[in-house]
Amino acid sequence: MAMNRRKFFLNGWKAGGALLGVAAAKTSWALLQPLKSLASSGKFKLKDAENYKPGTAEYITAARVWVVNPGDGKLLALSQTCPHLGCRVPFCESSGRFECPCHGSTYNIGGEYIKGPAPRGMDRFPIIQENGGAFVDTTKVVRGPNHGSHVYPSDSKGPSCKEA
Ligand code: FES
Repeated sequence: MAMNRRKFFLNGWKAGGALLGVAAAKTSWALLQPLKSLASSGKFKLKDAENYKPGTAEYITAARVWVVNPGDGKLLALSQTCPHLGCRVPFCESSGRFECPCHGSTYNIGGEYIKGPAPRGMDRFPIIQENGGAFVDTTKVVRGPNHGSHVYPSDSKGPSCKEA
């Protein structure tokens, strides 16, 4: 009887260890996935256009999107997700560029590729007019521009945030 109880507890420990291993593997796999799966999907209302000053980028937390005014009178909605491996790309106020902290991909204010391992510029979302207001529609991803396609200026306006 004592042997059976000991065997029972031993098997219990083995089963618990196996479950912990599966849970750890699942958690590790989830952590290694790019942020793409975290993108919010839907339509998000923008402020009136005059609130987005030329040369600025504003983050919409609920949409996980950057709304930028590159200065040509047309707003852009850029995905926060780096097209390289999916890190979140912040806007650097001092350089006026998007600078990915993971592997150094850099984009101008229009999300166009400047340098680094990214395969293209930042993906974007359509801005649509509906019911008298402007909305960013994150249900439709538009692939970022290819390397070398530049509409917006790419010169840095100051020091990079990575050097700070
Ligand atoms: S994830 Fe942005 S450069 Fe690699």
